Amino acid sequence: MGEVPAQSDAQEGGRDPNRARHVAIIMDGNGRWAKKRGLPRSVGHQRGVEAVRRLVRGLEPMGLDCLTLYAFSSENWKRSEDEVDDLMNLMRRFIKSDLPDFVANDVKLKIIGDWQALAPDIVEMLEDALAQTANGSKRLAVALNYGSQNEIARAAAKAAESGTIDTESITRYLDTYDLPPLDLIIRTSGEIRLSNFLLWQAAYAEMLFVDTLWPDFKPEHLAQALDDFARRERRYGGR
Ligand code: IPE
Ligand code: IPE
Ligand code: MG
Repeated sequence: MGEVPAQSDAQEGGRDPNRARHVAIIMDGNGRWAKKRGLPRSVGHQRGVEAVRRLVRGLEPMGLDCLTLYAFSSENWKRSEDEVDDLMNLMRRFIKSDLPDFVANDVKLKIIGDWQALAPDIVEMLEDALAQTANGSKRLAVALNYGSQNEIARAAAKAAESGTIDTESITRYLDTYDLPPLDLIIRTSGEIRLSNFLLWQAAYAEMLFVDTLWPDFKPEHLAQALDDFARRERRYGGR
Protein backbone atom coordinates (compact mmCIF):
# COMPACT_ATOMS: atom_id res chain seq x y z
CA MET A 1 0.00 0.00 0.00
CA GLY A 2 3.09 2.19 -0.21
CA GLU A 3 1.77 4.08 -3.23
CA VAL A 4 -1.50 5.07 -1.61
CA PRO A 5 -1.36 8.84 -1.31
CA ALA A 6 -1.41 9.98 2.31
CA GLN A 7 -4.08 12.55 1.62
CA SER A 8 -6.34 9.93 0.13
CA ASP A 9 -6.05 7.96 3.36
CA ALA A 10 -6.90 10.98 5.42
CA GLN A 11 -9.76 11.96 3.14
CA GLU A 12 -11.28 8.58 2.60
CA GLY A 13 -10.41 6.46 5.59
CA GLY A 14 -7.71 4.30 3.98
CA ARG A 15 -10.16 2.54 1.68
CA ASP A 16 -9.12 0.47 -1.33
CA PRO A 17 -8.11 3.19 -3.82
CA ASN A 18 -8.87 0.94 -6.77
CA ARG A 19 -12.52 0.57 -5.97
CA ALA A 20 -14.82 3.40 -6.99
CA ARG A 21 -17.40 4.15 -4.32
CA HIS A 22 -19.12 7.12 -5.93
CA VAL A 23 -19.61 7.45 -9.66
CA ALA A 24 -21.51 10.26 -11.35
CA ILE A 25 -22.80 10.11 -14.91
CA ILE A 26 -23.63 12.93 -17.32
CA MET A 27 -26.25 11.11 -19.35
CA ASP A 28 -25.86 12.83 -22.69
CA GLY A 29 -26.78 12.01 -26.28
CA ASN A 30 -30.50 11.20 -26.24
CA GLY A 31 -31.22 13.75 -28.97
CA ARG A 32 -28.45 12.51 -31.26
CA TRP A 33 -29.50 8.90 -30.69
CA ALA A 34 -32.97 9.78 -31.96
CA LYS A 35 -31.72 11.96 -34.81
CA LYS A 36 -29.54 9.13 -36.14
CA ARG A 37 -32.70 7.04 -36.46
CA GLY A 38 -34.93 9.78 -37.85
CA LEU A 39 -37.01 9.73 -34.64
CA PRO A 40 -38.22 12.66 -32.54
CA ARG A 41 -36.03 13.74 -29.61
CA SER A 42 -38.77 12.60 -27.22
CA VAL A 43 -38.14 8.98 -28.26
CA GLY A 44 -34.46 9.46 -27.47
CA HIS A 45 -35.42 10.66 -23.99
CA GLN A 46 -37.74 7.65 -23.53
CA ARG A 47 -34.92 5.31 -24.45
CA GLY A 48 -32.69 7.29 -22.11
CA VAL A 49 -35.08 6.50 -19.25
CA GLU A 50 -34.88 2.82 -20.20
CA ALA A 51 -31.10 3.03 -19.99
CA VAL A 52 -31.43 4.46 -16.47
CA ARG A 53 -33.78 1.65 -15.44
CA ARG A 54 -31.45 -0.99 -16.90
CA LEU A 55 -28.46 0.52 -15.13
CA VAL A 56 -30.15 0.77 -11.74
CA ARG A 57 -31.29 -2.84 -12.03
CA GLY A 58 -27.80 -3.98 -12.98
CA LEU A 59 -26.06 -2.03 -10.24
CA GLU A 60 -25.83 -4.71 -7.58
CA PRO A 61 -22.56 -6.44 -8.66
CA MET A 62 -20.72 -3.13 -9.19
CA GLY A 63 -20.16 -2.61 -5.48
CA LEU A 64 -20.77 1.13 -5.60
CA ASP A 65 -21.88 3.05 -2.53
CA CYS A 66 -23.43 5.80 -4.61
CA LEU A 67 -24.42 6.50 -8.19
CA THR A 68 -25.27 10.09 -9.12
CA LEU A 69 -27.12 10.77 -12.37
CA TYR A 70 -27.38 14.15 -14.12
CA ALA A 71 -30.96 14.13 -15.39
CA PHE A 72 -31.90 17.79 -15.87
CA SER A 73 -29.66 20.82 -15.60
CA SER A 74 -30.63 24.34 -14.57
CA GLU A 75 -29.69 25.31 -18.14
CA ASN A 76 -31.98 22.72 -19.74
CA TRP A 77 -34.92 25.12 -19.29
CA LYS A 78 -33.54 26.87 -22.38
CA ARG A 79 -34.88 24.03 -24.55
CA SER A 80 -38.23 24.28 -26.33
CA GLU A 81 -41.33 24.19 -24.16
CA ASP A 82 -42.32 20.92 -25.84
CA GLU A 83 -39.05 19.23 -25.00
CA VAL A 84 -39.10 20.47 -21.39
CA ASP A 85 -42.71 19.22 -21.07
CA ASP A 86 -41.67 15.85 -22.48
CA LEU A 87 -38.83 15.58 -19.98
CA MET A 88 -41.06 16.56 -17.03
CA ASN A 89 -43.73 14.06 -18.09
CA LEU A 90 -41.13 11.33 -18.43
CA MET A 91 -39.97 12.16 -14.93
CA ARG A 92 -43.52 11.85 -13.59
CA ARG A 93 -44.00 8.51 -15.33
CA PHE A 94 -40.62 7.18 -14.24
CA ILE A 95 -41.18 7.98 -10.56
CA LYS A 96 -44.61 6.35 -10.67
CA SER A 97 -43.48 3.21 -12.48
CA ASP A 98 -40.11 2.65 -10.83
CA LEU A 99 -40.60 3.71 -7.21
CA PRO A 100 -41.84 0.25 -6.12
CA ASP A 101 -38.74 -1.24 -7.76
CA PHE A 102 -36.47 1.17 -5.87
CA VAL A 103 -38.14 0.30 -2.57
CA ALA A 104 -37.91 -3.45 -3.29
CA ASN A 105 -34.26 -3.12 -4.26
CA ASP A 106 -33.16 -1.23 -1.15
CA VAL A 107 -32.40 2.00 -3.04
CA LYS A 108 -32.07 5.20 -1.02
CA LEU A 109 -32.99 8.06 -3.29
CA LYS A 110 -31.50 11.52 -3.02
CA ILE A 111 -32.16 14.55 -5.17
CA ILE A 112 -29.58 17.28 -5.69
CA GLY A 113 -30.15 20.66 -7.30
CA ASP A 114 -32.95 23.16 -6.92
CA TRP A 115 -35.65 20.48 -7.25
CA GLN A 116 -38.12 22.28 -5.00
CA ALA A 117 -38.58 24.75 -7.86
CA LEU A 118 -39.99 22.04 -10.16
CA ALA A 119 -43.76 21.78 -10.73
CA PRO A 120 -45.60 21.28 -7.39
CA ASP A 121 -46.92 17.83 -8.35
CA ILE A 122 -43.39 16.65 -9.19
CA VAL A 123 -42.06 18.07 -5.91
CA GLU A 124 -44.79 16.15 -4.11
CA MET A 125 -43.96 12.92 -5.96
CA LEU A 126 -40.28 13.35 -5.18
CA GLU A 127 -40.97 14.00 -1.50
CA ASP A 128 -43.00 10.81 -1.40
CA ALA A 129 -40.23 8.90 -3.20
CA LEU A 130 -37.63 10.22 -0.74
CA ALA A 131 -39.81 9.19 2.21
CA GLN A 132 -40.50 5.73 0.79
CA THR A 133 -36.83 5.03 0.11
CA ALA A 134 -35.48 6.64 3.30
CA ASN A 135 -34.42 3.30 4.81
CA GLY A 136 -32.64 1.98 1.73
CA SER A 137 -28.90 1.40 1.72
CA LYS A 138 -27.90 1.80 -1.95
CA ARG A 139 -27.62 5.45 -2.69
CA LEU A 140 -28.94 6.79 -5.97
CA ALA A 141 -28.66 10.54 -6.30
CA VAL A 142 -30.45 12.28 -9.15
CA ALA A 143 -29.52 15.81 -10.20
CA LEU A 144 -32.69 17.69 -11.10
CA ASN A 145 -32.75 21.36 -11.99
CA TYR A 146 -29.11 21.12 -10.96
CA GLY A 147 -26.39 23.67 -11.58
CA SER A 148 -23.09 23.34 -9.77
CA GLN A 149 -22.32 27.06 -9.62
CA ASN A 150 -25.70 27.69 -8.01
CA GLU A 151 -25.08 24.83 -5.55
CA ILE A 152 -21.70 26.31 -4.59
CA ALA A 153 -23.17 29.82 -4.22
CA ARG A 154 -25.95 28.47 -1.97
CA ALA A 155 -23.40 26.54 0.10
CA ALA A 156 -21.12 29.58 0.41
CA ALA A 157 -24.05 31.71 1.58
CA LYS A 158 -24.89 29.14 4.27
CA ALA A 159 -21.25 28.88 5.27
CA ALA A 160 -21.10 32.68 5.62
CA GLU A 161 -24.19 32.57 7.81
CA SER A 162 -22.48 29.98 10.02
CA GLY A 163 -19.52 32.33 10.46
CA THR A 164 -16.90 30.05 8.85
CA ILE A 165 -16.14 30.17 5.16
CA ASP A 166 -13.55 27.54 4.38
CA THR A 167 -13.43 24.48 2.13
CA GLU A 168 -14.77 22.17 4.86
CA SER A 169 -17.73 24.34 5.70
CA ILE A 170 -18.65 24.89 2.05
CA THR A 171 -18.40 21.13 1.42
CA ARG A 172 -20.71 20.60 4.41
CA TYR A 173 -23.38 22.83 2.90
CA LEU A 174 -23.32 21.41 -0.63
CA ASP A 175 -26.32 19.32 -1.69
CA THR A 176 -23.93 16.34 -1.74
CA TYR A 177 -22.87 16.82 1.92
CA ASP A 178 -23.92 13.29 2.89
CA LEU A 179 -22.59 11.45 -0.18
CA PRO A 180 -19.18 9.73 -0.36
CA PRO A 181 -16.34 11.64 -2.05
CA LEU A 182 -16.70 11.59 -5.82
CA ASP A 183 -14.37 9.10 -7.50
CA LEU A 184 -15.33 9.14 -11.16
CA ILE A 185 -17.38 11.23 -13.58
CA ILE A 186 -18.48 9.57 -16.80
CA ARG A 187 -19.92 11.54 -19.70
CA THR A 188 -21.50 9.79 -22.64
CA SER A 189 -21.93 11.00 -26.23
CA GLY A 190 -18.39 12.19 -26.88
CA GLU A 191 -18.74 15.70 -25.46
CA ILE A 192 -15.76 16.65 -23.33
CA ARG A 193 -17.09 19.15 -20.80
CA LEU A 194 -18.77 19.16 -17.41
CA SER A 195 -21.75 21.39 -18.27
CA ASN A 196 -22.05 22.79 -14.73
CA PHE A 197 -22.04 19.38 -13.02
CA LEU A 198 -20.32 18.71 -9.65
CA LEU A 199 -17.57 21.28 -10.25
CA TRP A 200 -16.51 21.46 -6.60
CA GLN A 201 -16.82 17.72 -6.00
CA ALA A 202 -14.77 16.97 -9.13
CA ALA A 203 -11.61 18.58 -7.70
CA TYR A 204 -9.83 15.20 -7.63
CA ALA A 205 -12.32 12.95 -9.37
CA GLU A 206 -11.20 10.90 -12.35
CA MET A 207 -13.01 11.55 -15.61
CA LEU A 208 -14.04 9.29 -18.43
CA PHE A 209 -15.55 10.50 -21.68
CA VAL A 210 -17.10 7.80 -23.84
CA ASP A 211 -18.62 8.03 -27.31
CA THR A 212 -21.60 5.80 -26.49
CA LEU A 213 -24.87 7.73 -26.70
CA TRP A 214 -26.81 7.53 -23.44
CA PRO A 215 -29.70 5.32 -24.72
CA ASP A 216 -27.10 2.72 -25.75
CA PHE A 217 -25.38 2.72 -22.35
CA LYS A 218 -25.53 -0.68 -20.62
CA PRO A 219 -24.44 -1.93 -17.19
CA GLU A 220 -21.48 -3.54 -19.00
CA HIS A 221 -20.27 -0.05 -19.97
CA LEU A 222 -20.27 0.97 -16.31
CA ALA A 223 -18.44 -2.23 -15.37
CA GLN A 224 -15.83 -1.40 -18.01
CA ALA A 225 -15.51 2.16 -16.67
CA LEU A 226 -14.92 0.78 -13.16
CA ASP A 227 -12.19 -1.48 -14.54
CA ASP A 228 -10.57 1.51 -16.20
CA PHE A 229 -10.84 3.47 -12.95
CA ALA A 230 -9.19 0.64 -11.01
CA ARG A 231 -6.09 0.95 -13.19
CA ARG A 232 -5.64 4.67 -12.66
CA GLU A 233 -3.20 6.13 -10.19
CA ARG A 234 -4.66 8.94 -8.15
CA ARG A 235 -2.07 11.23 -6.66
CA TYR A 236 -3.94 14.12 -5.03
CA GLY A 237 -0.96 16.36 -5.73
CA GLY A 238 1.50 14.08 -3.94
CA ARG A 239 4.11 11.68 -5.29
C1 IPE B 1 -29.32 14.27 -22.54
O1 IPE B 1 -29.49 14.15 -23.91
C2 IPE B 1 -30.63 14.48 -21.82
C3 IPE B 1 -30.78 15.79 -21.19
C4 IPE B 1 -29.90 16.76 -21.24
C5 IPE B 1 -32.01 16.04 -20.47
P1 IPE B 1 -29.60 15.42 -24.87
O2 IPE B 1 -31.03 15.79 -25.00
O3 IPE B 1 -28.72 16.53 -24.38
O4 IPE B 1 -29.06 14.82 -26.20
P2 IPE B 1 -28.15 15.53 -27.29
O5 IPE B 1 -26.96 16.11 -26.58
O6 IPE B 1 -28.99 16.59 -27.91
O7 IPE B 1 -27.79 14.45 -28.23
C1 IPE C 1 -25.82 18.07 -19.66
O1 IPE C 1 -26.12 17.81 -20.98
C2 IPE C 1 -27.04 17.93 -18.81
C3 IPE C 1 -27.59 16.58 -18.66
C4 IPE C 1 -27.08 15.50 -19.17
C5 IPE C 1 -28.78 16.48 -17.86
P1 IPE C 1 -26.47 18.97 -22.01
O2 IPE C 1 -26.75 18.33 -23.30
O3 IPE C 1 -27.52 19.86 -21.43
O4 IPE C 1 -25.09 19.80 -22.04
P2 IPE C 1 -24.51 20.77 -23.15
O5 IPE C 1 -25.58 21.78 -23.46
O6 IPE C 1 -24.17 19.94 -24.33
O7 IPE C 1 -23.29 21.36 -22.51
MG1 MG D 1 -26.81 17.04 -24.79
